[in-house]
Amino acid sequence: MKKKSGHVCRFFYFRPKIDLESAQSYIRSRLLEREQNSSLRQLRKTENLIDFCSNDYLGFAQSPVLHDLLKQEFLANGDHLTGSTGSRLISGNSTLTELLEAEIAAFHISGAALLFNSGYDANLGLFSALLQRGDTVILDELIHASIIDGCRLSFANKYTFRHNDLTSLEEKLKVAKGRVYIGIESIYSMDGDTAPLLEIVELAEKYDAALVVDEAHATGIFGAQGRGLVCRYGLENRVFARVITFGKALGCHGAAVLGDENLRQYLINFARSFIYTTAAAPLNHLAIRAAYQLLQESTAQEQLRQKILFFQSKLCSLTDSFIASDSAIQCLVVGGNEQTKILEKKIQQGGMDVRAILHPTVPAGKERLRICLHTFNTEDQIDNLINLIKNS
Ligand SMILES: Cc1ncc(COP(=O)(O)O)c(C=O)c1O
Repeated sequence: MKKKSGHVCRFFYFRPKIDLESAQSYIRSRLLEREQNSSLRQLRKTENLIDFCSNDYLGFAQSPVLHDLLKQEFLANGDHLTGSTGSRLISGNSTLTELLEAEIAAFHISGAALLFNSGYDANLGLFSALLQRGDTVILDELIHASIIDGCRLSFANKYTFRHNDLTSLEEKLKVAKGRVYIGIESIYSMDGDTAPLLEIVELAEKYDAALVVDEAHATGIFGAQGRGLVCRYGLENRVFARVITFGKALGCHGAAVLGDENLRQYLINFARSFIYTTAAAPLNHLAIRAAYQLLQESTAQEQLRQKILFFQSKLCSLTDSFIASDSAIQCLVVGGNEQTKILEKKIQQGGMDVRAILHPTVPAGKERLRICLHTFNTEDQIDNLINLIKNS
């Protein structure tokens, strides 16, 4: 390249030496730390074990009836099935998607519904979009990581209250500033216990706080035909928003925020995990539609309830070691990462797939076996599982 003066100009590119060794040694030290305190997370495949760990509570993910319903939907709506081709705001929207949202809103008795690609995305988008500087958010101390992460993306004041403790919540409400939001789960994912929903709704109303209820583990299981706990107690018009997910009892994937049309429009405009991502494939939306159809036709909810009652009736001397729960999630608190892993291994050797939930996922000292009950677990299998635990 010649400069005007006629001198040849030579460019030298100095590439800064990236200190890869420092990044690598940081990564190694963090993994080593995890290994040393027995909290290293690893991907595993467990084959030929009886499922007591998945969130497929109603067996929908493996249901041939659901697969047939999906095939029918597939044949009737065979366009652009595998890819939505873009964000909902560009090319990824469709009549099918909007129809599904309207059906979901009607089923859960909500003004509107907005689909997200996962429950994680729904909580991230909802909380980060709502919370502004000067607002206050008050979360149950056991709230799901997706809600914590959504709040972390905001400059709002953040508080937690003791798990399911109304006095602790009220203390925080009394000092809250700005617009106030409360975040709870109706069924807690790692404990399986239930929030005192009505009492929390009353406190929210007393202090003008907007209540958001994550119904991930209640969707499909509680309330008429699985509408969730908010519907079971007729609180649809008294909560600000709900998050429902399809990857658990419904056996599919995805999630929706339920609220009024105003909230839906707000999220379409401001929820970054909605805006800046490719919409789920129509095939996925057909599966969700089929799962809702099955939910309304099946007796799976009652079957699951019977399995939960059977499990509880067999616990006897173990009852006190379990966290009190009427849901499909039953947790045996062991304490200590190493101890919990040892018990997990023993039970897996007996043919049952249970999973240890370790610190830091749960508080130190509260490490546990999280047992998930399903419609397809037989009474014999439940009996065997409890005997294995008793003899361990
Ligand atoms: C309470 C709760 N909310 C949200 C999520 C996230 O849902 P998804 O798995 O669809 O991302 C989960 C799943 O682990 C959950 O347990």
